[in-house]
Amino acid sequence: MNDAADLFPVDPARRRGLGAAAAWMMLAGLGAGRAQAGGAGTTGPAPALAFASVQMTVEAPLAVPPGYTARVLYAWGDATGQAAVAPWGSEVLASPAEQRLQAGMHHDGMAFFPLDGRQERHTRHGLLALNHEYTDERLLHVDVASLAGGARTAEQVARSQAAHGVSVIEVQREGTGTAAPWSVVRPSRRARRLTANTPMAVAGPAAGHALLRTAADPEGRRILGTFANCAANATPWGTYLTCEENIQGYFEPPAEPDASQRRWGLQAGGRGNWARWHLHDERFDLRRHPNEFHRFGWVVEIDPHDPTMTPVKRTALGRAVHEGAATGVSKDGRAVVFMGEDSRFESIYRFVSRDRIRPGGFAANRDLLDHGTLSVARFDAQGRGRWLPLTHGQGGLTPENGFADQGEVVIRTREASDRLGGTKMDRPEWTAISPVTGEVFVSLTNNSQRGKPGLPGADAANPRAPNPTGHLLRWRHGGDLAAETFQWDIVALGGGETAGDAFSGPDGLTVDPFGRLWVATDGEPMTAAAPGERLWLPRNQLLACDPQAPGGVTMRRFLVAPPGCEVTGPVITPDGRTLFLNIQHPDPGWPAPGGRPRSATVVVTKDDGGVIGG
Ligand code: FEO
Ligand code: CA
Ligand code: CA
Repeated sequence: MNDAADLFPVDPARRRGLGAAAAWMMLAGLGAGRAQAGGAGTTGPAPALAFASVQMTVEAPLAVPPGYTARVLYAWGDATGQAAVAPWGSEVLASPAEQRLQAGMHHDGMAFFPLDGRQERHTRHGLLALNHEYTDERLLHVDVASLAGGARTAEQVARSQAAHGVSVIEVQREGTGTAAPWSVVRPSRRARRLTANTPMAVAGPAAGHALLRTAADPEGRRILGTFANCAANATPWGTYLTCEENIQGYFEPPAEPDASQRRWGLQAGGRGNWARWHLHDERFDLRRHPNEFHRFGWVVEIDPHDPTMTPVKRTALGRAVHEGAATGVSKDGRAVVFMGEDSRFESIYRFVSRDRIRPGGFAANRDLLDHGTLSVARFDAQGRGRWLPLTHGQGGLTPENGFADQGEVVIRTREASDRLGGTKMDRPEWTAISPVTGEVFVSLTNNSQRGKPGLPGADAANPRAPNPTGHLLRWRHGGDLAAETFQWDIVALGGGETAGDAFSGPDGLTVDPFGRLWVATDGEPMTAAAPGERLWLPRNQLLACDPQAPGGVTMRRFLVAPPGCEVTGPVITPDGRTLFLNIQHPDPGWPAPGGRPRSATVVVTKDDGGVIGG
């Protein structure tokens, strides 16, 4: 196990499909040490975090430590590179057809897939796959008055649907040297946009299920589109898992939603339907097509290396307000996927595949995520925990209790979890697996309602009631990600209760090739303290820490974000020398002064070409 390439003895073209970044995730699952963790350029002991902590500020639009440069790479409206399209302009209203060839709105989860040849020591070329989570309809359509009372034109609905989904873009360094800047390759035959109308397949236990059949798709096997795509991860076999999160805001519910619909957040009288797509796309009107709701809330697998590939909704991974799908490898070579569900008092899930990962990229693993065991986490006292299988016929998941078959178990994952006794967490957002230790991290962003009358109080894994600033938690499986039990502990508490720089609202996570944890925040501005004080947090940020630090974790601020935005999508290249992240929903004035603000992918490099973080 000394070389990631040895695990997958595939030809160079398919090795692209594996991806070094994914390979080190695989090594994590196999318990390999840090010497193999990063592939080329990252062997040896982890460099200590050596950057100067960035002071919280409201002065700079975006601040990084001295010696680093941050550049906007791919903003809403920028061409993907698939085809020529009119340049985005602040006063220009893109047609839906144009928006389908441009970056969508509200960039979120992201993954990097290296395209470098095996001889390359450094990361110079790759694909970025990234989510466009939702839209700000006022910015998208410009004419705010036209939206009054929830009105939409057919063109506005089409434009909104086109601004959702996923981008796959090709990126490379311009020139030689590890300090050469990155740019988007245009044109690119690899570039792709997926939207709320892209045809997708369905696989796993809910494929073809009666609850997935609609008038437009009587077989229940072909779904149009993906939306509300929040976090995302690469798999060890080189695919992209994009996670459908807050789907409940896109449907017009019946006047009185049933118990199952209410459990999923549908509200009476159309409240909560902010997208208003049903006005011109009847599949989003649940009064007419109630099963359409069951066709979203899934993890979708995309092969970013094949722009003609039909994305697949992987129903074996459960239906949830999905936030992330960090994927590693069990001791015996099976895929293990960890998933948070970002809602108050929802749970953390794990899927373990029945079969082993095979060499050969997506082509060799087409059905891998369709067979296996989905479980929900129960966090017990004294740092112990157990995975509880959501398997039909076990634990009361039976027809008498409303679960006719495994398809119904995965469609109604929340109710199944309730029955099993999954721990109700403080909004689990991203999960991340350390390539060095095999530890799994989760961000619990906050929970203002914990401890309120009639709601759960504090417990071992969610120790604060209420929890306005969130916390970070990790668990270990004793060397096998597929183990039935685990040991957990809390890594850091928000609100200044952990050493170093204070944070609030932890959300996006990544672990770099050296095992250092990077934490992006999406917290409400904390301005009660005075400027310069530790709890003065008017902006979101990106922080780093060494989870293995002998004296305990110390958080260090690496980036202060522009006003109004959250920081999300952090990913570090396999050579450790490039950080890509997303700035979502900035205030007016970013990235360019004046005009409409634009969410954007930002690339951060060290001016001397060194490793991010030192
Ligand atoms: Fe889309 Fe839970 O963040
Ligand atoms: Ca998030
Ligand atoms: Ca969030």
